[in-house]
Amino acid sequence: MKRFKALTTGHTVLMGRKTFESLPKGALPNRRNVVLTRSRKKFEGTEVFASMETALKHCEADEEVFVIGGSSVYNEALPLANRLYLTEVDDVPEKADTYFPEYDKKDWHETLRESFPADADNERPYSFVTLERIR
Ligand SMILES: NC(=O)c1ccc[n+]([C@@H]2O[C@H](COP(=O)([O-])OP(=O)(O)OC[C@H]3O[C@@H](n4cnc5c(N)ncnc54)[C@H](OP(=O)(O)O)[C@@H]3O)[C@@H](O)[C@H]2O)c1
Repeated sequence: MKRFKALTTGHTVLMGRKTFESLPKGALPNRRNVVLTRSRKKFEGTEVFASMETALKHCEADEEVFVIGGSSVYNEALPLANRLYLTEVDDVPEKADTYFPEYDKKDWHETLRESFPADADNERPYSFVTLERIR
């Protein structure tokens, strides 16, 4: 979460309606919050769009747009993405029901990998990984 905050603060975060509703305190502070929904609902502190295409059109001037989930939005945005910021966690949760999409490693070049052991805040080893799309 510290890395997520450091990367996204000052930028645009784009998310699905369910991910927005899972945020404990609503819109993320100090970021432009963009939410996708096909309903006509409004959410405080956000801009709402009914399609990925429209949302991205309104973000064209933004330096970097961070797609922050959930699964359906990751699926739709992956073919458009130039960079992936992943956190790999050495775990196989038994009850997972929402997944990041499969991606083809040969399309991506790893530019960063920082690995950390379990610590007081993280009960399992983890790695920060950045991948750039190979053009
Ligand atoms: N660990 C992580 O990194 C991470 C990150 C993000 C989310 N999550 C978890 O993932 C779960 C949510 O993921 P999810 O896949 O179920 O839902 P989601 O992608 O967050 O939201 C799905 C909803 O977004 C709207 N939507 C999606 N694509 C759209 C499009 N192209 N145009 C317009 N609206 C669109 C629809 O809302 P309407 O139904 O309102 O039309 C759809 O039902 C939550 O449990 C969240 O905590 C985890």
